[in-house]
Amino acid sequence: MTGRPRPKDEPAPPVATPEEPMGGRPDVTGEDALPGDRSRDELIARMIRVDQAGEYGAVRIYAGQLAVLGRTGSGEAIRAMAATEREHLERFDGLVAERGVRPTALQPIWHVAGYALGAATALLGERAAMACTVAVEEVIDRHYAGQAARLGEDEAELRATIETFRADELEHKDEALAHGAAGAPGYELLTGAVKAGSRLAIWLSTRI
Ligand SMILES: [Fe+2]
Ligand SMILES: [Fe+2]
Repeated sequence: MTGRPRPKDEPAPPVATPEEPMGGRPDVTGEDALPGDRSRDELIARMIRVDQAGEYGAVRIYAGQLAVLGRTGSGEAIRAMAATEREHLERFDGLVAERGVRPTALQPIWHVAGYALGAATALLGERAAMACTVAVEEVIDRHYAGQAARLGEDEAELRATIETFRADELEHKDEALAHGAAGAPGYELLTGAVKAGSRLAIWLSTRI
């Protein structure tokens, strides 16, 4: 810290963000928001932007899986998960419109990358597709938990939405485990790669 005044357009120093919790302060939207924190509206906009992008990606992952596995024994379970993701996406599409949030500019990328991830893991087999779901949902569970912890009473409704969706994602994870995800060949490698990709997608979609 040099103490020099920070030019207007220079990025602010690190603060707690939805995806990079600094710990300590539970509510960044509540009354304990500190001077110098990224503005409350921008913080909420980033949350909604990344969540809409994530739910869009989820819809595309399941579309890719269904293109390969739609007629197999896993088809029914995947269709049910896809239906939940469409509901999640609809809700965040609504929030983007209501709150005037700029959607991610990366949607065309997630359109292709989500579908490709779903189809590629499905081509490795039903259990690999389920392992992909476990990995994505584990990352989303932590992501949503982190967001919910940062929303104060002034954003109770958004927090409730996120908590509900988080519970849905955990159900998807359990469903995928029940379908033999852990028995996928190269489970650790596969889930590790999918988690890393999901975290990168979250990081990018929060900002771009
Ligand atoms: Fe979802
Ligand atoms: Fe999900």
